[in-house]
Amino acid sequence: MTKLSINGKPRDVDLPGDTPLLWVLRDELGLTGTKFGCGMALCGACTVHIDGLPGRACVTPISTLAGKKVVTIEAIGADKVGGAVQAAWIELGVPQCGYCQAGQIMSATALLKRKPKPTDADIDDAMTGNICRCGTYGRIRAAIKHAAGEQGEPA
Ligand code: FES
Ligand code: FES
Repeated sequence: MTKLSINGKPRDVDLPGDTPLLWVLRDELGLTGTKFGCGMALCGACTVHIDGLPGRACVTPISTLAGKKVVTIEAIGADKVGGAVQAAWIELGVPQCGYCQAGQIMSATALLKRKPKPTDADIDDAMTGNICRCGTYGRIRAAIKHAAGEQGEPA
C-alpha cells in the first residue's frame, strides 16, 4: 500500500511501487485532466506539481512520493497563482486542441509561484519541456505575462 497526498487529500493506493503516478491519477483516481503524451518525460503533457515543483507524472514511480504533496490540474484553480494563470489562458484564448494545455498551465503556474515577474529567458527555461503540437507558444508566453500583471497580447 502506498500512501499518497493528491490535491490535499490522502489516497491509499494498492499498486506496485514502480507504478507511474500518471497511471494512478488517470486509471485509479479518475483524474484525467493530466494527459499522457510520450510516456518518456519528453513532452510535458503529464506535468503535475510535486511539493510545488513541476514533475512528469509519466516517469514518477509512486514509491518516490511518500510524504510529498501532489497537485494536479483539477485543483490548481484553487491556488491564487494557478487561478490567475487559468483566467489568463481563457482571456487570451490560448488552447487549440487543448491536449498539452494542462501541462502547460502546471509548468506556467510553478514558474510564476517561483518568479512572479519572469523574463522571457525565465519563460523559455521553464516552458521548454512542454511541447505543443498546435504551436500555441506565442499565446502561452503572452498569457504568462498577462497572469504576471504585465502586458500580454494574443499572438
Ligand atoms: S507524457 Fe509525461 S512527459 Fe510526455
Ligand atoms: S493546443 Fe494542441 S497540442 Fe497544444
